[in-house]
Amino acid sequence: MNSNKIKKRDGFRTNLGIIAATLGSAVGLGNIWKFPSLTGSNGGASFIMIYLVSTLLVGLPIMISEIMMGRRVKANAVTTMQTLSPGRQPWWLVGVAGTLASFLIMVFYTEVAGWVYAYIFKFFSASALSNNPAVTSGLFLDMIKDPVQALAWQWIVLLLVGFIIVSGVSNGIEKWVKKLMPILFVLLIFVSIRSLTLPGAMKGLSFLFKPDLSKITGITLLAAMGLSFFKLSLGAATMMTYGSYFRDDQNIPKTAFKVMLADLTVSMLAGMAIFPAVFAFGFEASAGPALLFITIPAVFASMPMGHVFVILFFVLAAVAATGAMVSLLEVPVAFFSEQFKLSREKATFITVLALMIMGSTAALSESLLSGVKPFGMSFFDLYDFLTSNLLMPIGGLCTAIFAAWVWGFPEIKKELSNQGALGNQFYIKAIYTILKWITPILVVIILANGLWPKG
Ligand code: TRP
Repeated sequence: MNSNKIKKRDGFRTNLGIIAATLGSAVGLGNIWKFPSLTGSNGGASFIMIYLVSTLLVGLPIMISEIMMGRRVKANAVTTMQTLSPGRQPWWLVGVAGTLASFLIMVFYTEVAGWVYAYIFKFFSASALSNNPAVTSGLFLDMIKDPVQALAWQWIVLLLVGFIIVSGVSNGIEKWVKKLMPILFVLLIFVSIRSLTLPGAMKGLSFLFKPDLSKITGITLLAAMGLSFFKLSLGAATMMTYGSYFRDDQNIPKTAFKVMLADLTVSMLAGMAIFPAVFAFGFEASAGPALLFITIPAVFASMPMGHVFVILFFVLAAVAATGAMVSLLEVPVAFFSEQFKLSREKATFITVLALMIMGSTAALSESLLSGVKPFGMSFFDLYDFLTSNLLMPIGGLCTAIFAAWVWGFPEIKKELSNQGALGNQFYIKAIYTILKWITPILVVIILANGLWPKG
């Protein structure tokens, strides 16, 4: 290996590359169906307001903490936490839990992404197209119950993401997200204009944006907080790892804020692409996977030029999912390559292989393994539960506590002002205060709810 390469650690080169990569991580399947369906079923505009507040009080402070600690140490998450923790305190375990979380999210996220990729190809043939949800439902069930299709698409997705990762941080991740993010925005605007100009589109818009205060309950608050967590890729060492590739002159709070706003814009546009069409054609606004894989294909097939728009919509979803998966895969790859001094090629190969093996339990959970129910859940649901309800909130909580209470204000101030070069004292003080007193309490509530669900 070239010795010059070993000395200097790879990182993002440009400001634009940093924004594109961080936004690429945040934007994902969460925007395409989690945000629209939660907003739709929780009171529209009032839910969006609550989501915004919890993004400011929970999401942003944790995102900024992860990035600043990653950038300080410039290493994988385990080494980062180990280096920053005083004495022999075991904070490196937070890095281990985060790395494990990213790996486990990949195990099931790649399966859903595989379905999205599969749909692009299925809809190339017009015979798959139908405006009848019963038919699209059959298409979806046939796919997830077929072990060969389910596995093959997941593995194709894994190989593709592995291909991007193996080329490195600046030559792989940065180069690709700079291409993918503009495509995503163009497609999204295109599809939402089509949807908004349908006759009857107003009904969908009012569904999405009319506040309905009667729908706000304790559960709504929790859903909003959980979403702000998942949306900004927190609690899984993802932002910490990306932070380690940030440039020293990057304004971290400003970047995090911009990414949050752009991510929100994508979510709103996705909502505007979906709901006007759903209502214009008289469909039910179903939630979860059914919305993305059963309702949407039928809705888009109903419109003029539907064939083109179905394909564009799934290309858009595939692009969004890919940026998120790249950030997830980078976490274990950075860890393996640095911890065990492996080349990037080897570390990627091992991680992708491990994901193919573990991932197959998620891919086959609707077919060959449908009878196996560890802890009463399918493998797919188990990985989702472990990460969303356990590892991510715990990781986020420990990150907030560590940053504010252990690492402390002087270090935070140094890192967020770029050693005093930025005049952002007021913002740093505000971020610190929220992080110390408000964020941990709110995350404990999310965690408690995830472990002891309603009823
Ligand atoms: N934010 C992505 C989405 O909305 C998902 C994601 C990527 C993620 N990396 C993560 C979620 C890390 C939690 C942790 O789809």
